[in-house]
Amino acid sequence: MYNSKIIGLGHYVPENVVTNDDLSKVMETNDAWIQERMGIKERRHVVKGDGNTTTTMGVEAAKIAIENAGIDKDDIDFIIFATLSPDYYFPGPGVLVQRDLGIKTIGALDVRNQCSGFVYAVSIADQYIKSGMYKNILIVGSEIHSKGLDMSTRGRGVSVIFGDGAGAAVMSREEDTAKGVLSTHLHSEGQYAEELWLAAPGMGGRWVTDIIEENDPDDQSYFGHMNGQFVFKNAVVRFSEVILEGLSANNLKPTDIDLLVPHQANLRISQFIQRKFELSDDQVFNNIMKYGNTTAASIPIALTEAWQEGKIKEGDLVVLAAFGSGFTWASAIIRW
Ligand code: UT7
Repeated sequence: MYNSKIIGLGHYVPENVVTNDDLSKVMETNDAWIQERMGIKERRHVVKGDGNTTTTMGVEAAKIAIENAGIDKDDIDFIIFATLSPDYYFPGPGVLVQRDLGIKTIGALDVRNQCSGFVYAVSIADQYIKSGMYKNILIVGSEIHSKGLDMSTRGRGVSVIFGDGAGAAVMSREEDTAKGVLSTHLHSEGQYAEELWLAAPGMGGRWVTDIIEENDPDDQSYFGHMNGQFVFKNAVVRFSEVILEGLSANNLKPTDIDLLVPHQANLRISQFIQRKFELSDDQVFNNIMKYGNTTAASIPIALTEAWQEGKIKEGDLVVLAAFGSGFTWASAIIRW
């Protein structure tokens, strides 16, 4: 048995910055409301013709992660790609990364776990590496939300939150089992699937062809929908639970955390967890102010920035935690 560890990180975000004031020009919203409720100042949106897709952004992040890992792309044994906004309905972006990086015909897997997707990917990679099946695994989280948002006032409860971007990590074998990923913890509660979802295509057999045929101007099934307050209440409970579950599995307590990198769902959620566990500002990393909520990309983007800013040192206890659509939630306890 081995452990797995993160040996390289990278991120990529589109150049185009969309401020809260920009949004208030196309819908009834304002900077104060957005900052007060979710702590977001700006986010990135791709622009038509800029060449960015979920896959291309993931590939850019992956190239940086591979370079930082100090390995060759041909040393990668497996690819895991987490997204809710794939380039194609099928095939998923995992194989497109294999193609675009020009890697030999290794396996590629797509994870459909929305905000928890990256932590689920870490867990899968961890198991493959622990068992000895693979040595180096590339994991990517990438999202283009901006093309699937209702940018009218009707959609403002959802559209102001989400942003575009990508992050990636290379995970590798660690011989010392006191280091690296100590444990991962995964959960789901499908009874709340429709509290945060995008129905079409696929809603009970209703497909894009049906939507076009019906040509109903009130049809909103191809936009994401969220019961915001219900999601918020569940998020704070599940975030806390899954962090504690991970810590107690390793005989650790919240004060042992050197850096908590939560999924950037809403700054108020991160602050709630921080207060609950009595963590200092230095113990919790947030960058939602700059990027909004980038779903599967949020943790790898945050982790990359935390690492670049020197906030993660060897031996640190780093905790990843996420909650989102499904509902799904997860944590990873890492001794860096
Ligand atoms: O990453 C996946 C997990 N997602 C989350 O964790 C998000 C969880 N949910 C939330 O963070 C919060 O529910 C939101 C920040 C999304 C919304 O905050 P809220 O306090 O739940 O607001 P609300 O939806 O209850 O809306 C309150 C009011 C409404 O007006 P009335 O009915 O009180 O007159 C909304 O119409 O705010 C209005 N509103 C807005 N006003 C200005 C909704 N969106 C906006 C907006 N700008 N963008």
